[in-house]
Amino acid sequence: MYRTHTNGELRISDVGKEVCLCGWVQRSRDLGGMTFVDLRDRYGITQVVFNMETNADLCAKARTLGREFVVQIKGKVAERSNKNSKIPTGDIEIIANEINILNPAKTPPFTIEDHSDGGDELRMKYRYLDLRRDCVRKNLELRHRLSIEIRKYMDGQGFMEIETPFLVKSTPEGARDFVVPSRMNPGEFYALPQSPQQYKQLLMVAGYDRYFQLVRCFRDEDLRADRQPEFTQLDCEMSFVEQEDVLQMFEGLIRYLFKVEKGIDVPPLQRMSWQTAMDKYGSDKPDLRFGMEFTALKEVFPQGKFSIFDQSEWVGGICVPGGAEYTRKQLDELTDFVKRPQVGASGLIYIKCNADGSFKSSVDKFFNADELKAVAQACDAKAGDLILILAGKAAKTKTALGVLRLEMGNRLGLRDPFNYKLLWVVDFPLLEWDEEAGRFFAMHHPFTAPKPEDDAMLETDPGKVRANAYDMVINGVEVGGGSIRIHDKNLQKRMFKALGFSDEEAQAQFGFLMNAFEYGAPPHGGLAFGFDRLCALFGGADSIRDYIAFPKNNAGRDTMSESPSPISQAQLDELNLKVNLK
Ligand code: AMO
Repeated sequence: MYRTHTNGELRISDVGKEVCLCGWVQRSRDLGGMTFVDLRDRYGITQVVFNMETNADLCAKARTLGREFVVQIKGKVAERSNKNSKIPTGDIEIIANEINILNPAKTPPFTIEDHSDGGDELRMKYRYLDLRRDCVRKNLELRHRLSIEIRKYMDGQGFMEIETPFLVKSTPEGARDFVVPSRMNPGEFYALPQSPQQYKQLLMVAGYDRYFQLVRCFRDEDLRADRQPEFTQLDCEMSFVEQEDVLQMFEGLIRYLFKVEKGIDVPPLQRMSWQTAMDKYGSDKPDLRFGMEFTALKEVFPQGKFSIFDQSEWVGGICVPGGAEYTRKQLDELTDFVKRPQVGASGLIYIKCNADGSFKSSVDKFFNADELKAVAQACDAKAGDLILILAGKAAKTKTALGVLRLEMGNRLGLRDPFNYKLLWVVDFPLLEWDEEAGRFFAMHHPFTAPKPEDDAMLETDPGKVRANAYDMVINGVEVGGGSIRIHDKNLQKRMFKALGFSDEEAQAQFGFLMNAFEYGAPPHGGLAFGFDRLCALFGGADSIRDYIAFPKNNAGRDTMSESPSPISQAQLDELNLKVNLK
């Protein structure tokens, strides 16, 4: 037997026991007559003591131990004279009588501690060492617990977990596919699934009316803190349901998870239409931890006084509480912020509502005090507040003001990661126009059903049709999304037509699903949660990377295994592939 206990297990009640522990040397301290070794494993840290007086040879051996050596230690549990209340095993120590070095270790390139001296890249390269750190391990433990609780809830509700294939047909809608060449079918390719969408709909046709899967998905898109090229979804689908049934079921799941994992009773989720979210927050994933909602100001400012406002399709502002103190320099910084290409505004207008009731603004030349006062009233601004205003094309300007709103939320410390604000965003548009491609694309995916009351506009005014689609948003993060699907063949045909697909194109891409729908497709709908995002939110972090054991970096690379990498000419030949690097 290698060990009798783990390093997180022994307590004062174990004093006197002969034990055998295994683990990694976290640290060793040599205090003349005594050597102390902190032994670490997944479960904790236990202090081991070697005494020069009672066992000089053993103590000498202990002094040869380097950081991260793997050792086995036998000894007796004793009460510590100098207790450490910071760790659960801090009341005891092991008086060692035997030590076996199971494997020496090179000195690690960074310290294996919560506050490591290793930078991001270095820790990614040696991820197996990074994973030894307490703070990283805790994240993976959280992920594990959530996956177990999800399975419990889903099983309790009668859902079956069913695996779907990873080698699937490439479809042009959505993000870019990762493709896999087929050796046995020269010139042909599989794609890795962006989601199991079509398979789960086939499972509904097959009669598995409550399906779920914790499943890896693959998307070749630009990466950000909350996006990885391979990520995990909690993917779900139900038959014989309407939107309300789906919302209730999965609101139930999330509230259950908050209760069991964090002890939080989440109130029933607020619902907000996509249009309201865009009009009030400039985002389809509004962060409701703080206010600063938009006020539309085009009608509030008098016409004919300031040409920029007159020419703008939309003028809107946010009120920053206590912001009147902002200096010229801070306001210039904010102007630079909104002018960055990622935000895209052409300039920023401000009105300071001074404590003495006067106003100071960047448009003083154009508007008098009464006019500025009217704006302040419209924005519900009080003395000491700052109003920030953007003007321009409606959609673009709202988005930019939304980004500025989040920035102000950050600056004012209003985005506490552990203050959870959840909502459903509903009534998304069915289609969105792509200027470059000159056609409509499905906003969610081509199988999303229009709202029955908007259905007739599919041919006459497709851009106006709303979908039976919904997203769950927590603290400004889209954690999940789904829709009621089209199960009627004719409606699906009309949808493909609106997307500019000929019958042949639709048949070539999605024929297998459309054919299946001719054999008795039940009404159905579902959604998928981003499991990594859910873990990060529960952990209070922005980046999902910390919740994935072996993530990719922002360039989509695994710097530890050095992938992607070239393959040999022999492999290329076998796959009938030519690489043409320009
Ligand atoms: P959607 O594309 O909205 O829907 O994805 C569902 C959820 O998956 C998460 N997500 C990601 N997480 C990490 N990295 C990524 N690159 C990434 N992309 C998406 C998000 C998102 O809300 N088949 C549909 C679901 C359905 O209609 O049932 C789908 O995939 O949290």
